[in-house]
Amino acid sequence: MRSTGFTLGNHYIDQPLALAPMAGITDLPFRKICKRFGVGLMVTEMIASRAIEQKRERTQKMAIVDAGEHPVSIQIAGSDPKYMIAAANWAVEHGADFVDINMGCPVKKIVKQVAGSAMLRDEKLVATILDALVKAIDVPITLKIRTGWDENSKNVENIARIAEGCGVQMLTVHGRTRAQMFNGHANWEDIGRAKSVVSIPVIGNGDIVDAETALEMVRISGCDGVMIGRAVQGNPWLLGEVSAALTGKPIPSKPTAEERWAVVEEHMQLLVEHHGEYSASRLARKHVVWYSKGLRGSAEFRGHFQRIEDWQAQLETAQNYFLGLQNPVPLAA
Ligand SMILES: Cc1cc2nc3c(=O)[nH]c(=O)nc-3n(C[C@H](O)[C@H](O)[C@H](O)COP(=O)(O)O)c2cc1C
Repeated sequence: MRSTGFTLGNHYIDQPLALAPMAGITDLPFRKICKRFGVGLMVTEMIASRAIEQKRERTQKMAIVDAGEHPVSIQIAGSDPKYMIAAANWAVEHGADFVDINMGCPVKKIVKQVAGSAMLRDEKLVATILDALVKAIDVPITLKIRTGWDENSKNVENIARIAEGCGVQMLTVHGRTRAQMFNGHANWEDIGRAKSVVSIPVIGNGDIVDAETALEMVRISGCDGVMIGRAVQGNPWLLGEVSAALTGKPIPSKPTAEERWAVVEEHMQLLVEHHGEYSASRLARKHVVWYSKGLRGSAEFRGHFQRIEDWQAQLETAQNYFLGLQNPVPLAA
């Protein structure tokens, strides 16, 4: 099955594959690593519209986009049109080709402010925000949602229709309700329900783990592209596999031990450049350990690596582990 690209504003998205926004994970270093494996559409981590107003250094950093990662979307969250318009303008000033609106975040802190997935319970507010943003902002506004608040109040079709009616130019659907959080399974039929009522591109999201599941989601939902999040953590090669599968190209071979280490090392260097050594070593505890997932000796490596405080020592320990693996890279027994 081949999936062709689609047009979004002035951009043609030739690879119908997006990296999912993940707060605390899809920072600039991770996005730079992912881009080369075949991401057609990049999305930043969510930025709260009120945080932008406070002009914190951390927030500014989250909106730094690299020249090589376009087309890129900066994702914002909030429920007050005034702050959302200011945030969207700020995103465009920072280089966003599109502004993505978060109506999927399930976490309590966001939901309590009636933002993220809580918006799905108030269709009138959804329309008000989207209408105001589309009218005020020159670049395409896109929307990311869940399928509804809970099993009894799924409204994915209504929200899709409202979004298209307001002039939203692309919709991403994570096939879970808010009540599911990250439990159970994403319902790919529900993604198809959104697709069947609109003519804007619909991106399917939730539970893709390999090329086969990506193709299966496209087959079941008819979505125009796919978005992958958790399965890319420590495995950016997955993007190359899915991209090839979607565009009908041969699936690239798995990385050798040397290729894997080259990516881990570069990722660690990028973390230092972007965050400084202290934060980089904390972030490396997540990312570097993810790169070892499923490989022989990963449990011992994880236990050891996570106790190291110093970034330089982390680098040496990681090098010993990843280059100590023979080719082909041995999987855990
Ligand atoms: C740690 C983490 C952080 C996330 N942060 C965001 C976010 O900032 N904005 C957003 O729209 N979704 C966020 N998500 C949801 C993902 O974008 C995606 O919808 C979800 O993980 C399902 O896709 P997957 O099964 O491919 O991971 C986050 C998910 C995780 C696991």
